Amino acid sequence: MARAAKVENIIMQKNEVFGTKKVVDEMNINEESVLETEKNAVEDDVPEAIDVTSLPGVGAATAEKLQSSGFHDVLSIAVASPGKLCEAAGVSEAVARKIINAARDSMKMGFETGTQVLARRAKVMRIPTGSSNIDALLGGGFETGAITECFGEFGSGKTQIGHVLVVQVLSRDPKASVVYIDTENTFRPERIKELCVGVGLDYEDALRRIMVARAYNSDHQMLLAEKVEGLIKEQGKKIKLVVVDSLTAHFRAEFIGRGTLAERQQKLNRHMHTLGKLSSSQNICVFVTNQVMSKPDSFFGDPTVAIGGHIVAHASTFRIYLRKGRKGSRVAKLIDSPNLPEGEAPFEVTGPGLKDF
Ligand code: GTP
Ligand code: MG
Repeated sequence: MARAAKVENIIMQKNEVFGTKKVVDEMNINEESVLETEKNAVEDDVPEAIDVTSLPGVGAATAEKLQSSGFHDVLSIAVASPGKLCEAAGVSEAVARKIINAARDSMKMGFETGTQVLARRAKVMRIPTGSSNIDALLGGGFETGAITECFGEFGSGKTQIGHVLVVQVLSRDPKASVVYIDTENTFRPERIKELCVGVGLDYEDALRRIMVARAYNSDHQMLLAEKVEGLIKEQGKKIKLVVVDSLTAHFRAEFIGRGTLAERQQKLNRHMHTLGKLSSSQNICVFVTNQVMSKPDSFFGDPTVAIGGHIVAHASTFRIYLRKGRKGSRVAKLIDSPNLPEGEAPFEVTGPGLKDF
């Protein structure tokens, strides 16, 4: 505030004496100092990385608890729910609300122009698959900054697409790393090696840049997803792809019976939220696989339905349904996308990668 007033004063004085360089010099205000002051004023408009401890009620101990629960910056606190913050920091709900409100006040949160959204969209990258049919279906490939869900029956190619994306990302950016959250023990380094040969990538270098984590249950899976941000912020890894294969298997196995459905969906929702935030805040491509179950009451069309219900469906930006086609081929169908038409892409899984069929 004081600085802004000073700038205004300087600019006013400068305007009064505009064209009278001598007077300006006498006042000891030169072009550079005005520019410098203006520049500082402009910089003041940019939200700075504010220290979490500057928020009321957040001491060093609370800040440490928040850090270890994944609240690394003021933005993450500003968008958190009071319940989540209570849990993370061990404070009362009233204090949590106060912290969140202070975090919101300290940030510029609100609307942005369509131009700004377009500029952000320009940062989105598309990961091609090797099959031009699938790439065309997805407008160039799998998008960063979004969650893409692939669902289909066993052997329909979900895990293979996950492996292919890993190799494609690593071959396109020598500094990139990927995260593979494996719930079914189906990650295969041998397959990565074979796919690396297909794109001419050194497989030892590729394997070093794949962070694989075996998730033993749904809680572990959720925790692993929450840890990815730390890999970026604390270890400086350039993560460009996160694969969760399979997203729903643990949830499906652990929550049996109608009575547990609400809890399952609540947890899935939280998990999808973590993944969604990760994809958009870090411009990461999140690829999740999902199983299907048969719908016994369906008389027409495909009698299969994806697991996870509306929670998974709505949280995914793109949804692809995979099915087995004729002569060993596979067909990818785009079911849901914010900006692309629905369509089908026939492809096949081969040794060196995916190919059009
Ligand atoms: P579930 O996880 O069981 O639901 O199946 P999925 O959809 O993940 O299928 P996955 O991607 O594992 O396999 C799809 C198909 O890819 C298989 O049926 C095989 O035909 C083919 N495939 C799997 N591994 C290889 C491989 O190493 N080389 C080649 N050429 N094809 C493979
Ligand atoms: Mg699989």
